[in-house]
Formats: sequence, C-alpha cells, structure tokens
Amino acid sequence: MVNLFQDKTTDFKLSISWLVKISNSFLMNKLIALLLTITINTYSFCQSHFTTSSPREHLSLDDNWKFHLGNEWPNALGLKKAGENGGPASVKFNDNTWRTVTVPHDWAIELPFEKTSDKNRGYKPIGFDFPATSIGWYRRTFNLPLTDSGKRFWLQFDGVFRDATVWVNGWIVTHHEGGYYPFRVDITDIVQFGGKNTIAVRVDASNMEGWFYEGAGIYRHVWLDKTEPLAIATDGVFVYTQFKNNQPVGKPAVKVEVQLLNKEFTSSKATVKCEVIAPNGKSVSKFNATDIVDGNTEKKVPLSSVIPSPILWSPETPSLYKLITTIEQEGKVVDQKETRFGIRTIAFDKDKGFFLNGKHYWLYGTCNHQDHAGVGAALPDALQYFRIKKLKEFSNAYRTSHNPPTPELLDACDSLGMIVMDENRLLGSDEENMRRWETQIRRDRNHPSVCIWSICNEEHVQASSAAGRVGATMQTLVKRLDPTRPVTAAENIGNVYTGLMGTLEVRGWNYHTYGMDDYHAAHPEQVSVGTEETSAMVDRGIYEKDTIRKYVAGYSSCANPKNWPFFAERPWISGVFIWTGFDYRGEPSPYNWPCISSHFGVIDVCGFPKDNMYYYKSWWTKDTVLHILPHWNWAEKEGKNISVVAYSNCEEVELFLNNESLGKQMMKINSQLSWNVKYAPGKLTAKGFIGGKVVKEETIETTGEPASVLLIPDRTTINANGEDVSVFTVKVVDAQGRVVPTANNKINFDINGTGKIIGVGNGDPSCLEPDTYLSGGWSRSIFNGLAQIIVQSTKEAGEIKLTATSQGLQPATSIIKTQASVLRASIQ
Ligand code: GAL
Repeated sequence: MVNLFQDKTTDFKLSISWLVKISNSFLMNKLIALLLTITINTYSFCQSHFTTSSPREHLSLDDNWKFHLGNEWPNALGLKKAGENGGPASVKFNDNTWRTVTVPHDWAIELPFEKTSDKNRGYKPIGFDFPATSIGWYRRTFNLPLTDSGKRFWLQFDGVFRDATVWVNGWIVTHHEGGYYPFRVDITDIVQFGGKNTIAVRVDASNMEGWFYEGAGIYRHVWLDKTEPLAIATDGVFVYTQFKNNQPVGKPAVKVEVQLLNKEFTSSKATVKCEVIAPNGKSVSKFNATDIVDGNTEKKVPLSSVIPSPILWSPETPSLYKLITTIEQEGKVVDQKETRFGIRTIAFDKDKGFFLNGKHYWLYGTCNHQDHAGVGAALPDALQYFRIKKLKEFSNAYRTSHNPPTPELLDACDSLGMIVMDENRLLGSDEENMRRWETQIRRDRNHPSVCIWSICNEEHVQASSAAGRVGATMQTLVKRLDPTRPVTAAENIGNVYTGLMGTLEVRGWNYHTYGMDDYHAAHPEQVSVGTEETSAMVDRGIYEKDTIRKYVAGYSSCANPKNWPFFAERPWISGVFIWTGFDYRGEPSPYNWPCISSHFGVIDVCGFPKDNMYYYKSWWTKDTVLHILPHWNWAEKEGKNISVVAYSNCEEVELFLNNESLGKQMMKINSQLSWNVKYAPGKLTAKGFIGGKVVKEETIETTGEPASVLLIPDRTTINANGEDVSVFTVKVVDAQGRVVPTANNKINFDINGTGKIIGVGNGDPSCLEPDTYLSGGWSRSIFNGLAQIIVQSTKEAGEIKLTATSQGLQPATSIIKTQASVLRASIQ
C-alpha cells in the first residue's frame, strides 16, 4: 500500500489505530480529525533528532475554490489603476452562485466532446473558437491572524493550464504564461492581517502548448508559504553526493548548497545547520556554516561532509535519505526544511550505455503525457503512484514528454524506483525560457530518480547553428545548477551533427534508426540515448481493424527488426523510451472523430495492459512471462484461420487447442511466436518450457455470456485525508467468473459512506461517454470486459461502499476502509 505521508506517519499511525477502532460515530470521527490536526504539528517537530519548530509554514490552498466557466469579464484584465480591477478580480465581487471545487481541477475533462474541436485536444471544446468554455475563473479567501504581521507570504501555483492572471485583494500580482511551470509570488505587501484575503485567478486555456490533451484550469496544487524575513529561498536547498571517481565505494561526500534570502533591510548573520537522516531514521551526519547575508539580497552558502555506510538508491531498492536544513539567526531558529534525496552514481558510457551505481542498466523506458482516465490532467497524488506502479511492471524509466512534470510524479518515481528523463517544454535561451528552465532544474534536482535532463523534443530547428548556440546556453545553465546529470534532447534526425546534435553531451534519438550506426561510427566519443523509439498502435482487446469504431488491431510489431531487437543489439544507445507507456487523450492517429484518444500506449488510459505490454515484460524484466492472444470468443469464425501470437521469454512454447498440440516452437531472444489456428471454441493453452521443463502455462477460453459485474479495488484501505484514492477495476464475467473479452455492458455506480467518485474510464479510444459527472448518476460502459472507477476519500474515517449494477447482470458491491490519517496542513 502506498502511504503518501510515509516518513511522517508510520509510527504515529500505530498509536492512533486504537482510536480508530473505537470510533464508529460521526462525532468521534470529528474529534479524531481535530486531535490529529493538533497533534500533527507536535508530532512533526518531536519525531526526529534535530527537528525543531520551524516558523516556515507550507499550507495547502487546494480546498474551497469557487469556480466559474466563461468569458463574461474581459475588462477585468485592464491595467488602469492599481488594486481596482473589476469583475471577479475585485474583492467585492459576489461569487455565491459559483460552484465550489477542490484543486487539482481540470474543467476540460468535465466538458462534452465536440466534433468541431481540435482532435489533438481530444475533441474537447477548448480553443479560440470556444471562448465560453476556454476561460475559467477561480476565487478563494484565506484568513491571516494579526500575529502573522512581520512574516513573508508567498503564493505558489505548481501548474495552471494555461495563462493565469492572479489578483490578491484586488491587486494584480502576476500574469503567468505556460501550462507546465510552477510560479510563485511574494504577496507580503498586500496581505491583510486579522481578516480575510481574497485570491482571484483568471485562467485562459485557449492556446495549446503541445499537440496532445493538456487539460484546463488549476490542475496542480496551490500553496501559501509563510516564512520569516530571513529564510531559505525558493527551491533553495540543493543536496547531492559525490564518490571518488564516480565509483560507489567508500564514503561519499555530501554537498549542500543553501540559498538564503534576506528580506530585511539590514544584513544578517545566519547559521546554516545540516543533518542527514539515513533511510533507517538514524542521524548520520551533522555539519554547519555561518555567513553574512546583506539586506534585501540572496546568498548561496555551500556546505559539505561525508556519509558513512551509504545505502544506495536504485530501481530495485529506492532508499531515500533526508536532509534537515535549519537556519538560525542570533541563536533563534528562523527556518527549517526537509529535503528528500538519494545516494547513487550515474554514468553514460559511449560504448556500453547507461550505468547506475557502477552497474550496467538498460534504460527500459516509456514516454508519457500526464493525463489519466476519469480525471484528465488533474491527478490526485495517489494516482501518480498508481501509474508508476503500473509502468514498473514492465519498465524502469520514464520520460516526462514533453514538459516538466508535477512534483508528485517525481516523488512517486523516487519512492518506487523509476529512472526519469526530466524534459523541458520549449527550446529557447531568451530570458523567459531560461528563467523557466532554471525553475525546473532548481525544483527537480534533489530527486534521485531524475538521471538526465532533456532540453526539448523534435524542434524543427534542431540542426541549425542557432539551435546549437541555444542548446549550449541551456546546457551551460544545467552545469552551473546541477553538476551531476547529463543533458540531452529528443532529436528526430538521422546522421547529422550540426546544431543540437553536435552540442549536447548526450545524443538523443527519436525514431531514426536510419543513419544511427554511421553517426555512431563518425562520432564515437558522444554518448547516446533512444529518447523516443519503437512506437506501436494497438487497442486493448481488439484484433481486427475497425474503421467505423476506429480501432487498431492488437497484433503489434514489437518484435520487428527495426523495433526493440534493433536497439537491443546496440548497447551504446543506452536503451529506449517507447512511445508511449500509457495511452493519452488527443492525437488519435491514425484516425479522427469519434476517436478521441491515442492508440500508442503499451497500457491504455486506465492502465489496463494491452497485449504488447507482455512483449516488453518478457524482454525487459526477470519475471517468467507467457501471454497469448487474441481472445477465444469468435463464434462467427468457426473453421477459419486465426493468428495466435505468444509473447514469452521461455525457451520454447507449445500451443494446444482443446488439448491437442499445435506444435512447439523455439523462442528467439527479443522475439515473439505465432501459429495459424483453425478456430474452434474451447480452450487455447500455451505451455512455456525452460530446460525442457514446463515453467509457465496460460489458457484462454471461450466464455459464456456476461453474467455478473465484479468490483476490485487496488487498495482496500485508504487514508481519510480527502485526497487519497482507490482505483477500482470493473469486470464483466460469465457464470464461471471468466472475464468476457467482448463485453460492452453499461454499468451504473452508486456510492455511500466516506468517499466519492471522481472519475470513470474504460480505455476505449472512441468512447464519448462522460469521464466525470457533476451531479451524480455515474455510469460507464465496459470496454472489452473492463472499466475503471476512481474513488476518493473524504476527511472522515469510515467505510466506502461502492455498488455496480447493470441490466441483466448480477450486481457487485465492494467495501473499502478509510483510515484516520494526517491531513495536509492547510489554510482557510
Ligand atoms: C513524435 C512526437 C510525439 C508524438 C509522436 C506520435 O514524433 O515526439 O509527441 O507526436 O510523434 O507518433
């Protein structure tokens, strides 16, 4: 089970479990929630070693936004007089009739599909042709006590799609363009103490940045940070380790850079104290430094020490350390921050590829966009963990194509052991692009999962000398901010060495197998990585092309000599990131309406595997794999030939139809097998052999008609924090409990207790049913036997009862628990 607050709550949860047991009344639950909120602060400062009460507060502003969709107040953007903008920007505006929403929020997912809209937006009515549904307003208030006077206040948005104009107490505080970068404003001068403060945000999603579904609205977290005037600057702690000769033996140096910000007018003497906490919770190193920070300036304080007996981070053992940075001014603690980090070495070798901790690793990677079934771009943190866990079933690396990720995605990759290529959005060395690039590097550089930076994807100008100069400037910035990781770009050009290709230290390859060997021979010193390769288009459970419903058949060409087998023979390419891991909305190539999603995923938008997932699992993992396709429900094909394919890493596979052998075949490495089989209903069985012995068996059967619905939660206990989710698989099975692979029944859902439904999906790229329902009445069709429903906890501990009914089928009920849990510190 994923515990999002693991390091803070593990012991604590034990001590409250007895409380939860006796709590079956509403009042008792309320009391526990109150106790928890009070105790959390106490707990977080008494739990470890050096940790003390910090004046810094990092408060969630996710709850209680008022939301309105529409472009009724274009004049609000006027800049005539300070603090006097009209419409919702004004403090006096009455938003009583607006809907209350919690962010992350994506209004695009709530809109109906629209045939005249852009296919790359997944046919959602967003864009300049749809002003009424492309501009949204959010408003929220928060209170500050009089005692807060003298502190500094920062408003932080982790990501808004797309252009955001923000007012606080009627003052315009920022206009931020771009949908993927965090932005932060110092609002100290205009906040009010002893009363209410009002935030208004106008979001304009008319412009696209990519060519895929990008959502609309405040789709990542929002924070209010309170600090003392002397404090750690934004993303101002950088911690990394260095082994002698980059070999993971002995004690590594731990290097820390602390950027201090002094907002006082006079200079201040600051003492920076660092303490390193090992994965087992023990303090392993303490060191400090003192420096003077002039008034109204920032200053970088470098510190270093060593770490005894390091425990390395790797995909198999993602061990995490913690750095506690405390700032003292005249003996008083003025700031304290915890930073998670990992100890590991990375290296790219020009001949042998990628090394982590001195050991060779193939980068078995996937490229991914950020949306998920049911919720669009607004993913609860727990869903990031769900997605990374799904990808880890067959891969070890993730490319954040083609934009900076949300921080929680990197947290999930750190915790679960996924190597990350962290990609910038747009190539550019102008001031604005460099500021964004710097923001991304500073924010993400402590994550051990991040092993390489990518500055852009497939820019048409990539081979120009200007691109070379821009790339050099961006690469130089990386070297200044992060000396530990190499730089690449996703370059879709062959044997060409000009521009980015000749400038960046790691040559990235998108698709161009042609010319690769010649390039490598001509530039043998440059290291390489397959940034985007071996793309396939298939739909889950579909085995015949369907140009009416617009489906592509599930027989893929993974084993084609130009796909994975090609790269597997070239270790110098370090591995590949296939296009894509998950399906995503938009870019429905090769089709258009009514097809609204891509077909590229190895798993669909819900995370259900397509058959070709088993090809990669066979050759990318150590698990023994045997999978056969298609399904075996072909009543209309009796006596006709059907191609049966096996994905397996067994040495030999033998196929049987109704217990009669259809032949045994040898499996070549990185390959797949096929048989032509005269269809007869019954049992199709494959046996996998290693060393002449059967090590794996897989059977698919002709099923009966749909008889029942099943509900299977991925987690049966979730945290009652109003954020955590359980992801339910909905199956339609026959009387013998076998998933009916052609079932498309409509299912209705009902929920009771301490949870709510936040999204439904089924992986059907041509399904035009809603993903979300604003006022109950949830339903979704099954797609080839499966659908998904995402259930989120409220803040009360208790039980969630989910029911699924469908005409003519046995209904299903599933009960999961929501356990009392630490609530995110927030401000109302
Ligand atoms: C690549 C591009 C991806 C996606 C893919 C579709 O060239 O980098 O974003 O568009 O093509 O095939």
